[in-house]
Parts: sequence; C-alpha cells; structure tokens
Amino acid sequence: MCRRNRIGRLQHLRDLIGAVPGLRVVIVLAIVGFPFRLAHAQGSGAPHLEKHGAATQLVVDGKPFLILGAELLNSSPSSLDYMRPIWPRLASIPLNTVLTPLSWELIEPREGQFDFTLPDGLIRDARQNNLRLVFLWLASWKNGMSSYPPLWVKQDTHRFPRVVEKDGAPVEILSTLGKESMQADARAFAALMRRIREVDGDAHTVLMMQVENEVGVLGDSRDRSPAANQAFDGPVPKQLMSYLQQHRDALLPEFRQVWEAAGAKSSGTWQEVFGPGPQTDEIFMAWNYALYVQHVAAAGKAEYPLPMYVNTWLAGPQSSPGQFPSGGPLPEVMDVWKAAGNALDIFAPDIYAPNFAEWCDRYNRAGNPLFIPETHGGAAGQANVFYALGQRETIGFSPFGIDAFVDTDRPALTDPNGELGKSYEALRQIAPIILQYEGQGKMAGFLLDPDHPRTKLDLNGYRLEVSLDEIFGTQAQTGFGLVIATGPAEFLGAGSGFRISFRLKEGGPVHVGIGSVDEGTFSDNVWIPGRRLNGDENDQGKGWRFAPYRVRIEKVVLYRY
Ligand code: DGJ
Repeated sequence: MCRRNRIGRLQHLRDLIGAVPGLRVVIVLAIVGFPFRLAHAQGSGAPHLEKHGAATQLVVDGKPFLILGAELLNSSPSSLDYMRPIWPRLASIPLNTVLTPLSWELIEPREGQFDFTLPDGLIRDARQNNLRLVFLWLASWKNGMSSYPPLWVKQDTHRFPRVVEKDGAPVEILSTLGKESMQADARAFAALMRRIREVDGDAHTVLMMQVENEVGVLGDSRDRSPAANQAFDGPVPKQLMSYLQQHRDALLPEFRQVWEAAGAKSSGTWQEVFGPGPQTDEIFMAWNYALYVQHVAAAGKAEYPLPMYVNTWLAGPQSSPGQFPSGGPLPEVMDVWKAAGNALDIFAPDIYAPNFAEWCDRYNRAGNPLFIPETHGGAAGQANVFYALGQRETIGFSPFGIDAFVDTDRPALTDPNGELGKSYEALRQIAPIILQYEGQGKMAGFLLDPDHPRTKLDLNGYRLEVSLDEIFGTQAQTGFGLVIATGPAEFLGAGSGFRISFRLKEGGPVHVGIGSVDEGTFSDNVWIPGRRLNGDENDQGKGWRFAPYRVRIEKVVLYRY
C-alpha cells in the first residue's frame, strides 16, 4: 500500500470513529482487551459487582444475589466421591452457595499439564443440587504457609525461593520476591479461569473467586531473604508513594497515623517513610504480597473476570506481625493493597473473634464491600448474620467447616431446623426485600446480649428502641435481628429474642401506637400472614416482639395519636 493510500485510509478511519458515537470507545477497549472482556462478561450476565445506592451488590444473571453460604473443610472437595453424599445435605440447610477449596497441586500436578476433573465435577455436582460456588484458589499460600503448591514447585527452592526468617533458616513459605513463583501461580490461575469460563460462562454456577488464603509471613514480621533485605533497604516504590499522596485524605486512619507519625515523607527507604519497628515490616510485606496476589488475580480476570477477593487472618488483641500472618490485608495495611493494583474487588475478614460487629465495621469502610468468607456457624452464626446483613449490607456470609458433621456426626449442622438453618431459612424468604432496600438507609441490624441489652435505631423518621425480650420477667440471653422500613408507617423485621418500642425521632407530643403485628412467611415473594400477634405477644400494644427460640418474620403497622 502506498503511503498516500495509507494516510487516506487512516483519515477515513478517524472520520468514521468521529462519526459513529461510541466507536472510539469500542476500538480502544478492543485494543486494551481485558476491560473489553469485562464489559462482555457483564453484558452476558456474568456475576459482577454493582453499586445499589450506598451498597455494593453481587449481580448474577441480571439480578442482585445474596450469598447465604458456608465453607467446606479444606480437604473435602479434593474428592468428588467424598463430596457426593454431602451436597444434598448442604442444600437442605438451606444454603445457596458453597465456598469450595480448589488447590494448585491437584490442578497442575506436572508443570504445564492441567487436570480440570475437580472443578468440572464440582461445578456439575453443585449445579445438580441447585447450589452456587465460590472457589478458593489455594495456591502459593494458605494460612501463611505454602503447603498447597505442587511438588515440582515445593522441591525447586532455587527457582521458587522461600522466606528466610530471623534465624537465617528458610521456611515452607514461598517468598513474594520469587518472580517465577508469581508467574507460575498466575499461569495456573489463568488456566483455571479459562476453564471455568468454558464450562460455566453461561450457567454462572461459580459466582466469585478467592485468590490464595490468609496470606502473610508467619513466625517473623518479614521475609529476611537476601532479595527481601535488598528491597527493604531500598526506596519505597514510586507507585506506593504517589498513591499515598493522591489519597491522603481517604487513607484509613490506622495507616495514615503511621505514615504521618514518621513525617508523611514523599520518598525514602521503608524505615525512613514509615519509621522503625514491626509495623514497617508489616507494611513492606503487605506491599509485596499485594503486588503478587494482584498479579495472579489480574491474570485470572483477563480470562474470566469474576469478582475476586482475598481473605484475612485477623490480628488478635496484643499480637504483633508474625504472630498473625504479616502482610495480609488487615485494616492497617489495606491501603497498601489498594495501591498495588485493582484486580481485587474485596478485602474480606475471617471473623472468629468475639467482637464480630467491630470487625464488620472495620472492614466495611472506604468503599470496601463486606464479605465474610469464614466465621463461626451454630448459635453465633445464627445471630451474627443479622448484623452483617442488616447493618453492613454484606454481600454474603459463610461459616467455616459446614461439612464437619461427616467426621464428627453433628447432625444439627445439616438439619434445616438447626441454628444457622433457622436464620438462613428466614433470610432466604426475605432476601429479595433486603436486596431491594439495601443502600437506601432504610435497614438496620443488631446483636443484643445481657452486657449489651439495648440499642437505638433511627429509621424513616422513627426512633426505634430495641431491647432484649423478656418472657414473664425472664430476660432472653440473646437477641438478634434486622428491620426494614418498608413504608411510611410500616416495618418488616426478622430475628429472635428482642422487642422494639417506637416514637417519633423528633419527639413532640405525638405518640406512636402499634396498629397491628402479623407473623408470616414469604413464598416466592408473596406474603402469607400467620397469627395476628396481640396481647402478651405484643406486650399489650407496647412493643413489637420477637420471642426467643424461633427465628421469625413479622410485619408491624404503626399509627399516631
Ligand atoms: C482459617 C483458614 O482460612 C481455613 O482454611 C481453616 O484452616 C480454618 N482457619 C480452620 O479453623
């Protein structure tokens, strides 16, 4: 083609781009590739995250989806036969989603040779039981350690270097500085995501991916291998420094304080910028884990852009980095993880600590949606799910080790009338209403116990005084629930062991009375009223009561006098 011709065609192309609205965008996206695939995945209804008012929702097949989930024990899904009798019991709890480990060692037993028997079979069997999946990619790290990489990775410590700790000895933790480790993990994860897109790109059984599991250095506050020492003594990378400067006002206070206490410098070594001490080791490790995991996640997203998250082993009271995995996305270093990339959509807490609500609050900040991949089930989970959902509008809730009954014969875990199941059954029924009202400031959740027997909520111009229920002078030991303002003088509630009295938020001479309280159920979104609750059941008109022992759904209508 002669030069004139070429210029002519380029000119023609430019005119065409200018003339057709949106064509410029399409061409740019096609060149960039990955975002184009993202748009394509969303257009085709692939699971993705979407803002709904102030909330972030998981959208599946065009509709918001609430994960009422549970996580399997680590080794159960390594055998399709072992899992076969478990699936129907999980479906009867009733869960809608199972968090399912999937390990690098079983997918790529020999380098470059992939075996997708497990993901294929797990997807098929979940589907047959009407369940969705979140896969946990157990690869370079799980619980800080590196026991899940294939043997060809584990035994080649030259190509895939290890963390070295204080005593100078290498440990079974892959070093984040191992470029080949990062590339090998990313290649395997990309191959897995490609396979999931091939076998599930239409059905959307798989909703999200967890990348690695509870990463961070255990046993020391940082990696002290020669490569790590060299990086630690070098300058803080520009990418991180610019992020801090550009986002200074939005940084989480736990992190901002550390940086500002050391002088809020815009360059320098890690110790110059963040000061000496284990907190700097943790920040250094967070940066290096974040670069690695963001890279793995991005490689997977380029194949199939499902929402992706990392889970966190939380710090106990008075514990220091290394006692918990140093560098995982704890609140004090979450900004560092954000600065390293944007392939990860959620930083998620594994909440086993008793201060459940506090951890929910700490993770649901600065635009981070709450998702709880691991926590307690049983009576604790039965209550906590109401706070996570009602107060923090979580994308999902998932107690760990739901199939423990197989080993320990604890049938309550699978009994639909078991503790968690009671809450999930009520929440399953009202999920469409919860999702409709999320992000609008019309919903609240609470947890009560004898040390915290009451709380106040302001919804729709009313002040709700919520307290532990009392039956014939005996206080309930636990109260939990959520309430939604569904109309100007109407609330929907679910939970157990509490009562609510109403007044106008602004006070004044007007009283608020209870017009009616009905218990009921929803069947396919249609309200089926049961008893009209009056007399003892609404404290002679003084309170909206949710008696203990059962998890109930009730509607109240108010009037003014
Ligand atoms: C947290 C881990 O992420 C899980 O895989 C599991 O090991 C549990 N701890 C066990 O309590």
